Order: sequence, then C-alpha cells, then structure tokens
Amino acid sequence: METVLLTGGMGYIGSHTAVELLREGYDVIIADDLSNSSAEVLDSIEKITGIRPLFYQVNAADKEQMQPIFRDRAVSAVIHFAGYKAVGESVAKPLMYYRNNIDSALTVLELMAEHEVQRFIFSSSATVYGEHNVPPMTEDLPTGGITNPYGWTKYMIEQILRDAAKADQELSVVLLRYFNPIGADESGLIGEKPNGIPNNLMPYVAQVAAGIRDHLNVFGNDYPTPDGTGIRDYIHVTDLARGHVAALRYSRTHTGAETFNLGTGRGVSVLELIHAFEKANGIKIPYEIAPRRAGDIAEMYAAPDKAEKILHWRAEKTIEDCCRDTWRFQKKIADELRILRSH
Ligand code: UFG
Repeated sequence: METVLLTGGMGYIGSHTAVELLREGYDVIIADDLSNSSAEVLDSIEKITGIRPLFYQVNAADKEQMQPIFRDRAVSAVIHFAGYKAVGESVAKPLMYYRNNIDSALTVLELMAEHEVQRFIFSSSATVYGEHNVPPMTEDLPTGGITNPYGWTKYMIEQILRDAAKADQELSVVLLRYFNPIGADESGLIGEKPNGIPNNLMPYVAQVAAGIRDHLNVFGNDYPTPDGTGIRDYIHVTDLARGHVAALRYSRTHTGAETFNLGTGRGVSVLELIHAFEKANGIKIPYEIAPRRAGDIAEMYAAPDKAEKILHWRAEKTIEDCCRDTWRFQKKIADELRILRSH
C-alpha cells in the first residue's frame, strides 16, 4: 500500500483529496496546523470513508515539526496543499505570503531529499496564466503577468520545482493548475468553510441562500463577455480530488516536472452560476451589480485535453451537481450553528 502525505490535508481541497485517496485504498497521512481548518474535518473523513487518517498538527514550514513524519513513516509521495490562499490578503501582507508559501514548499522538498521521497504533487493555480493570455489556457502558454502576491507564490514555487526536478533525475514533480473549485462531497459532511466574509463567488452565493448575507454583489457587468459578467471554469472539488489520484498514479512511473490543468474546459459566467444555483436548489439569490473587483480578469477557462490524454482523467460532474452539493453542505453548517446557538 502506498502512503501519501497531504500537507494542508484538512483544508477544502486537501480533505476531499484525502477522501478520494482513502476510497481508492491509499494510506493517508495528514499534516496541517489547523490555521484555516478545524479538527472536526478528521471525524468527517472517518465518517465518510470508515478510516481515520493519521494526523499531525504541524506547520509545513517548520522542519523540526515535520521531521518525525518523514523519520517514522514510510512516505511514498507528498501532495502539497499547505499554503495561504486569500488573494486580497496577499496584496495587504505580501511578505507573510512569500515567507509562508515558499518556506513550506522548500521545507517539504528538503525533507523529501533527506528521506529519499521522490514524488511531489503541487497545488498550483490557473492564476499563473496571468492577465495576458487568452483562454482556453494550454499548459505550454507563458506564465506571469500575475496581479497579486498569492499568485506569484504559485508561480515561484512552480519554478523552484522545475529546477529541483532538473537537478535530481529521480524526482517526479507534478504541477496541477486548478481552475475554480466549488461543490462538496456528496455526503454533505465536508466542504468549503471560509472564515468571515467569503472572497469567492460560490461560498458567497451559498451564504446568501442561507440568509447569512442579504445579497450578492456581482463584480462588474461590463466585461467583454456575452452577459458582461466574468467567466470562470468551475470544477467540482470531487473531480479535482480525483485528478490528484490520477496524478499520483502517473508519478509512479514518471520523472521530471510535468504540468496539468485541472479544469472542465467549460466557461460559466457569474450570472449563469447564480441562475444554476437558483434552479438546482429552488432558492432565489438576490444580487446587485457592483463595480469590477481590482485584479479580476474577464475570462479564464482550461484546455483540459492534456490531463485527459496523459492522466486519463477528466471532470465529470455538472454545474448542477456543484450547486446541489454546495447547498447540502451549507445547510449542514447552518444546522450546526443553530444547534450551537440553542444550547
Ligand atoms: N465574483 C462576484 N462576486 C463575489 C465574488 C466573486 O461577482 O462576491 C466574481 C468575480 O468577479 C469573478 C468570479 O465571480 O468573475 C469568480 O471569482 P472568485 O473569487 O470565486 O474566483 P477567482 O477566479 O477570482 O479566483 C480563483 C481563486 C484563486 C485563483 C484563481 C485562479 O480564488 O485562488 O481562481 O484563476 F488564483
């Protein structure tokens, strides 16, 4: 059995990947400092899969804290999710983002080299395509022209990983460029749970649906798109998680650094997403047109062909699935809050 270490494995994408790996019979170890997640996620993973992964509450950038995992466990591969991810916050606190995100990647790579672990899968982002490329984005496009430090950390870590793979002929690096993950596991037990006011569209829509916020602001309706609102490639988080399983399988026989988009290839506008949510769940989402958000681009969607051809993976779920599953999870957390308040 292969043992896979998931840094940041308690977070939104990490926890869904843990579930898919456990479903496929992998042995999963999670390293997470719980800075943006909670310990209950472990109970939920166990409820869904019947297996409780080994959990280390550690900061991935802290070599001393991470050392025991590599010393005591036979890790065959690492999927590195750990990192700060709020675009706006990264503009306000760039040093914090560069320090944390780059340090954690370097720490894990150093530990891997010391313990002869040779397979590294990285959570990159479509944000590395920047504002100059025209979609559909293919992996061979030049990267750069990024509008925020968060995105630059992804860009820089990609470069670090390509250099590391060049220097070490035995290393296998898989760079996964995520488009816009939404949705939740069908069980409704895990999902995206942002702290405070959500930055991203889908969690905001879900909170409007739950009555937590009274309306959604649509950031701009004067983009050069059919309905004037921004277009993104929304991918169900379970599809995305399965992309990691495919990448892991691929990395068993691969060396060097290879990049794959994990997207659907389908562009959906903000208004289309709102209407899909309303239709799938029978709930009205009040919205208002607001000014454009700084740093946003008009259109971003993947060319998904390379992952399909080489990883034998493609996204299968629909936007309706995404909307239904998001709402199922949102209802669960709303119920929990009500129970808490009534006590
Ligand atoms: N939007 C709104 N109202 C909101 C929030 C978002 O209209 O309250 C719009 C945005 O303007 C954009 C679309 O919804 O057109 C999607 O916005 P998100 O914030 O959900 O996602 P982004 O595409 O801006 O960013 C996401 C991830 C980043 C990643 C990037 C890669 O959050 O981590 O995709 O393209 F870098």
